Amino acid sequence: MNIADRYDSLPYPTKFFAETNPNRMAALGKILGLDVPDPQECRVLEFGCGDGSNLLSHAAMLPGSKFLGVDISTQHIKTAKAWADEIGLSNIDFQQADLMDMDVSEYGEFDFIVAHGLISWVPRPVIDKVFELFGAFLSDAGIGYVSYNTYPGGHLRNMVREMMVYHTRGIDDPLDKVESASSFLKLLSEGTADQNVYKAVLAAENIRHSKHSPSDFFHDDLSDFYFSFYFSEIASRLDSSGLEYLCESEFHSMSQRTLSTEYQKLIKGIENPVEREDYLDFARGRQFRKTLFCKKGRTVSREIKPARLSELALASTAAPGVMNDVEKESKPVRFQSQLGAGIEIDHVLTKLALTELGSRDGAPVGFPELLDAVRDRLEFQDWNKEEDICRRILIRLLEDTPIVDLYSFSDSNTPILAEKPKASALAQWQTRVGTKVTSRNGAVIGLDDEVARTLVKLSDGSRTIAQIEDGIRKFVAREGIGREVRSDLGEWVRESIERLSRIGVLDSGQTDS
Ligand SMILES: C[S@@+](CC[C@H](N)C(=O)[O-])C[C@H]1O[C@@H](n2cnc3c(N)ncnc32)[C@H](O)[C@@H]1O
Repeated sequence: MNIADRYDSLPYPTKFFAETNPNRMAALGKILGLDVPDPQECRVLEFGCGDGSNLLSHAAMLPGSKFLGVDISTQHIKTAKAWADEIGLSNIDFQQADLMDMDVSEYGEFDFIVAHGLISWVPRPVIDKVFELFGAFLSDAGIGYVSYNTYPGGHLRNMVREMMVYHTRGIDDPLDKVESASSFLKLLSEGTADQNVYKAVLAAENIRHSKHSPSDFFHDDLSDFYFSFYFSEIASRLDSSGLEYLCESEFHSMSQRTLSTEYQKLIKGIENPVEREDYLDFARGRQFRKTLFCKKGRTVSREIKPARLSELALASTAAPGVMNDVEKESKPVRFQSQLGAGIEIDHVLTKLALTELGSRDGAPVGFPELLDAVRDRLEFQDWNKEEDICRRILIRLLEDTPIVDLYSFSDSNTPILAEKPKASALAQWQTRVGTKVTSRNGAVIGLDDEVARTLVKLSDGSRTIAQIEDGIRKFVAREGIGREVRSDLGEWVRESIERLSRIGVLDSGQTDS
């Protein structure tokens, strides 16, 4: 089966990637000292866009920008176009095309280019072509994104994958192949005679696969093509295309601070930044990278200056969002990211700034606006000194933890809760096709709970909050989903709706004026 037929017969799952949001890609360019295109008025291209879900979520948030998704699968593009119509987007186009046939002169340049989950799963000539197209399509100030399986961690995954491919070599039907591979891996991981490293790798891969959908499993692990790269190979491919490495889109994944002091010394002693990244991957056993790049020869300033925060917006959900008296004193407070990483901070202004961000449910807030929001609550003899410390701590958090995310701009309009709440067309579509919605700043929010999804579905502009509550009550009773109707259901519905409104999952209501 060729690649197009494989995806046509079993389409790739619907996914959203917050790091590919132009607002976030631009922010990382800015923090590294680059002038970048305005994400609100730009051209965005995605190679191998699958069913278009990722690009659709960005296009809905950035109506002043234009988006193009290209994919070889007819089925993917048919779905993507139908969904764009369903959401009512006119700033996005999808084209069924083989990247090998793309002619630069027909398309012009793009400010942001994304290739997620592509180059590790296509033949070598397509990989070469993707880098050629990156070089040809990226505008002078533009930023590109490419993700790929990475060595040395890639060796471990491939070791297990090759055995599954071998075991299923005689099976053609995609779902039968997945079923056979997954039973075999389970048998192997439980039946191995080894008690050491080999057993641990098999067990880890078995757990990872058990969380995958059949489509993920088939395309990501049983595909005919599966490549991992040392970072230096990617850097060299970028260089040959007139491009250069900018940073990882998961900025903190470049941090060295969790390594031993001796290993940090080894890395610091390496002059060449590309080689340094390779040694970082050796230390981390890195399996996957999400790399940003720009045109070669731009002045990338890797030492982050605190002043640069003034031009950027920050978001964080690490604080509970309620100011506690303790935060006004120099006592450590623990901030915990949703990814599990936590850190204690005792600097008062920084604690308040993070708490303020928490109260905005992860929406980005411009740094000057953030300071203004907390200024009245504190009296410092030397505000400038405290502000400087706060900037440095926030930069350190950005470099070393997933506690803060950076955005190029923030949407300062406060949404108004309508009398009859209405989920945005994007959110209505997202809850129809999956279990995730994206906020107005592109953060991906899991709605794994059926009741939460029903809440969004009932918020269709025809019901008041009381009627939505009534609908939820009936849904829980009717579906018998194994739980009591909670006594505080009314409160939960109101709070959830208010939160969905704040994060832009609901359309803003009209003001009186
Ligand atoms: C692993 S999927 C990733 C989809 C999506 N980017 C994601 O990460 O969710 C790879 C995608 O690349 C597309 N693709 C593979 N080879 C291609 C080619 N030569 N030209 C265009 N698209 C291609 C496939 O159809 C598929 O949608």
